[in-house]
Amino acid sequence: MAARLAGKVALVTGAGGGLGRAFCRALAAEGAAVVASDRDLAAAEATAAACGGLAVALDVTGEAAWIAALDQVMDRFGRLDVLVNNAGIVILKSIEDTTIEEWRLTLGVNLDGVFLGCKHAIPRMKATGGSIVNVSSVSGLVGGHNLAAYNASKGGVRLLTKSVALHCARAGYGIRCNSVHPSFVNTPMVDGMLAGARDPARARQRLAEQTPIGRIAETDDITPLVVYLASDESRFVTGAEMVVDGGLTAG
Ligand SMILES: NC(=O)c1ccc[n+]([C@@H]2O[C@H](COP(=O)([O-])OP(=O)(O)OC[C@H]3O[C@@H](n4cnc5c(N)ncnc54)[C@H](O)[C@@H]3O)[C@@H](O)[C@H]2O)c1
Repeated sequence: MAARLAGKVALVTGAGGGLGRAFCRALAAEGAAVVASDRDLAAAEATAAACGGLAVALDVTGEAAWIAALDQVMDRFGRLDVLVNNAGIVILKSIEDTTIEEWRLTLGVNLDGVFLGCKHAIPRMKATGGSIVNVSSVSGLVGGHNLAAYNASKGGVRLLTKSVALHCARAGYGIRCNSVHPSFVNTPMVDGMLAGARDPARARQRLAEQTPIGRIAETDDITPLVVYLASDESRFVTGAEMVVDGGLTAG
């Protein structure tokens, strides 16, 4: 059977982290040429080494950095078929405790980063068509008392995605754009969130108990959805919010 992503070039942001690295491996396993980008170049290089891809330094908050990274992809491969806007950060604070600096930092990475990625990838994708996958969260669908900036950023990604999808459809570019909404995934981000808890082991257990399926996700619970959205199998899917949360938001 032919690889599902043969001939496609995929750029993943935040590719040095838990989900980003898993996405790169999964995309490469289906035949894509992968560009692993991260603000931490060493981490991106480790991912690229693991999946035979190219590593690129990219802090998603910078417009010039985006243009340089995308130009590097076009120079090297001559095309861009898939963009996975995955880079993200979380600060566990309520509206009262969040400083304006923390708000701007979170919105800068999680929302400005996705805006810039979509804005500058589209002109480079439109000759060949493509798929943009924006990594939101269940926190883009439902609120949390201590997730003020994260909720705002991930909710913004959800609706920005729909606007991008509708623009590209109307323009006839053949570019689809969808958001994915995972619940807790076993990555360094969740390790960091739990590290601040009084009893991290108990807090991890509670996250599992809150999830109807009874455990938090592993990265490879999420990767098949991203591979599907990257592939032509999802050719009629655009502007969709794809929930992969073990039933967390079903009740
Ligand atoms: N882990 C979860 O439970 C979970 C759940 C839902 C959604 N998400 C989302 O999935 C995405 C990946 O999360 P993860 O769990 O793999 O986190 P992670 O902390 O393991 O990895 C995040 C990566 O993003 C990079 N990064 C941070 N700021 C950056 C910037 N300005 N420019 C470029 N790269 C930057 C980091 O260097 C890191 O490699 C995030 O958008 C996150 O919000 C995670």
